[in-house]
Amino acid sequence: MNTKPIIILGIESSCDETAAAVLSDTNILANIIAGQEVHKNFGGVVPELASRAHQQNIIPVVDEAMKKAGIKREDISAVAFTQGPGLLGSLLVGGSFAKAFAQALNIPLIPVNHMQAHILAHFIGTGEKPSFPFLCLTVSGGHTQIVLVKDYLEMEVIGQTTDDAAGEAFDKAAKIMGLPYPGGPLVDKYAKLGNPLRYKFPEAKIPGYDFSFSGLKTAFMYFIRDNGLDNTCTTPEEFISKNLNDICASLQHTIVQTLMNKLRLATKELEIREVAIAGGVSANSGLRNALLAEQEKGNWKVFIPPFEYCTDNAAMIAITGHYKFLKGEIAGEDTGTKARLYF
Ligand code: KG4
Ligand code: ZN
Repeated sequence: MNTKPIIILGIESSCDETAAAVLSDTNILANIIAGQEVHKNFGGVVPELASRAHQQNIIPVVDEAMKKAGIKREDISAVAFTQGPGLLGSLLVGGSFAKAFAQALNIPLIPVNHMQAHILAHFIGTGEKPSFPFLCLTVSGGHTQIVLVKDYLEMEVIGQTTDDAAGEAFDKAAKIMGLPYPGGPLVDKYAKLGNPLRYKFPEAKIPGYDFSFSGLKTAFMYFIRDNGLDNTCTTPEEFISKNLNDICASLQHTIVQTLMNKLRLATKELEIREVAIAGGVSANSGLRNALLAEQEKGNWKVFIPPFEYCTDNAAMIAITGHYKFLKGEIAGEDTGTKARLYF
């Protein structure tokens, strides 16, 4: 019997990427992302500018995704969109577009949790998949969570940050060093050339599987100020430019060790050996290497997503839409977007 594939159009607009993807069953036909250069001069995402850029980008991005996928509107089984968490104005642009699109075509509309979608990115395509239950460390610019993944749509957050996210720790430290936003990828780039043990930064002592990164940010600020005025440098800028690689390597080492220590504790106590990472910070080479080292020691089986599915994208929204479609989890017309959304 020749069964028709499920075709999902995924829309992502929670922060500063406007993205659309087309998925045929679990295979990606198109995955288009438009970034927003407009925030570079501000050292962070400016919500109002993000909403406006989403409005400009959304139709061309969806158009391009459909052309690349080689599908017509009538082929689409359902539209999945990011319901939250994220910037409300940004979410509204993608959400309103998805709603109008689904209504016009009279097809189901599927609201998707962005954090759940980062995890389900592991199920895109035909490669080896983690088996349930597994642990996922979800690390992005807004979140740091250890999630117990029991099934595609059954997840429990067992640990999270009590203040800054891991991505925020990278970005804020980068900002202190005068690097442009987002600084995470740049810290990673310089860290590859530096000595991770040259400087010591404090690691927060938080009970259980929770995290805290705000103390590191403060310690880092004083570290730069004080070293900039020691007997070898006259300004913080001089200290940074002379030691950038070692500073980045040591900072990255501290953040990665903090994440790994909690992950080790969780795998041990819950007796789970399959470990995945998700979210923008999972692109970090230090974190990837630390996980792979555990795998080489025979401790864990590790799942690391391809780079294009680490940072925000719509393919992950579409795959979550696929599993929700199979379970009949579709939305009514009154479904809205939510800046805060839990699962
Ligand atoms: O998941 P994501 O694209 O957006 C959010 O939902 O936040 O994550 C973005 C975050 C930023 O903080 C960025 O600096 C960080 O991921 N990031 C990295 C790397 N690539 C992206 N942090 C460290 N090393 C990287 N290679
Ligand atoms: Zn994200």
